[in-house]
Amino acid sequence: MKAMVCTKYGPPEVLQLKEVKKPIPKNHEILIKVHATPVSFGDTLVRHFNVISPRKFHMPFLFWLVGKIYFGFRKPKIPVLGSEFSGEVESVGRDVDRFSKGDPVFGYRGPRMGAYAEYLCMPENGVVAPNPANMTYEEAASVPYGAIMALNVLRKADLRPGQKILVNGASGGIGPAVVQLARSHFGAIVTGVCSTPRLEYVKSLGAEKVIDYTREDFIDSGETYDCIVDILGKSSFARCQRSLQPNGRCLFVSFKMKQVFQMLRTSMSGGRKAVCVVSNEKAEDLTLIKDLIEAGKIKAIIDRCFPLEQAAEAHRYVEQGHKKGNIVITLGHADKALSQDSQPCAKGGVD
Ligand SMILES: NC(=O)c1ccc[n+]([C@@H]2O[C@H](COP(=O)([O-])OP(=O)(O)OC[C@H]3O[C@@H](n4cnc5c(N)ncnc54)[C@H](OP(=O)(O)O)[C@@H]3O)[C@@H](O)[C@H]2O)c1
Repeated sequence: MKAMVCTKYGPPEVLQLKEVKKPIPKNHEILIKVHATPVSFGDTLVRHFNVISPRKFHMPFLFWLVGKIYFGFRKPKIPVLGSEFSGEVESVGRDVDRFSKGDPVFGYRGPRMGAYAEYLCMPENGVVAPNPANMTYEEAASVPYGAIMALNVLRKADLRPGQKILVNGASGGIGPAVVQLARSHFGAIVTGVCSTPRLEYVKSLGAEKVIDYTREDFIDSGETYDCIVDILGKSSFARCQRSLQPNGRCLFVSFKMKQVFQMLRTSMSGGRKAVCVVSNEKAEDLTLIKDLIEAGKIKAIIDRCFPLEQAAEAHRYVEQGHKKGNIVITLGHADKALSQDSQPCAKGGVD
């Protein structure tokens, strides 16, 4: 089969189309013909992980070390990137009873990656679920990472309807799902923080208010929130406290040991709390996400699609920092059928 292989660490050009061995499903696995996979923060990070120092890494040193050992110090040990996917079940192992050949599915592989390829195998009890009925393959593929992380975050937020939440980093991979779920599932009033080109995009996701971090520091607005979600850890607990209600929470999606100690300290007393959130991917969460999509509570906005052969261009486009929505890599299987009657992509390829 064809796969986009990360031949070495480096710029987007290290992604090369190669022939690799097609996986064979074990008894409890399904073989999926991949139709779409988005370019996530993790994909671009892992592609040049050799130059990511502990300082540049947004998580504690131990996470960086585990990442280095897992992904490889000098060359990629996981050469095929792509942690989210959508596609069609091609065949099933002997003991599989949840899925059948031809089922449209979407899912999340986390650090195992491997979705920049024509086929992949997933355990039937893994993070894989039927494709939402109201989404194309391209849309569905771009949801799992952000939505799973958003559920993890918002469960720690303890939000009640009508409470106020600020999402610092509302326009990337995780922020849009936090914005949408906070508003549509938890009934909160959302303020999103991002840079100028993505203000309208964040508004379109349901943020009541948007703040441009290049022009204004949300701390200076005088507004207070029940919850602040800091996606990249760009703020600090000390500063955020000024914008938190007396029992408010500051949730860090990216954090260092300093925030871990702040979490331990504040967990032992009343008042404002720092909370570090670690992703926990569960199959049942993806099923819940599918239901939320079908209930109209999560939408996916696609900026551009690129064919697998242009994965390097897709990475370049993301790294140029202009994307407004998701960038999706599509696989042109000859017999590919898109879900329902939706268009494959909002825009196609490179201008
Ligand atoms: N805790 C966990 O288990 C876990 C799991 C997965 C990922 N992560 C962490 O999550 C992060 C990636 O999140 P993502 O995929 O959403 O990233 P992303 O797609 O790169 O999005 C980053 C967001 O941050 C915004 N931003 C950039 N600079 C900012 C600043 N100075 N102030 C405020 N906002 C700023 C961006 O806005 P503009 O685009 O408009 O500039 C964008 O909205 C990584 O740090 C990763 O380590 C943690």
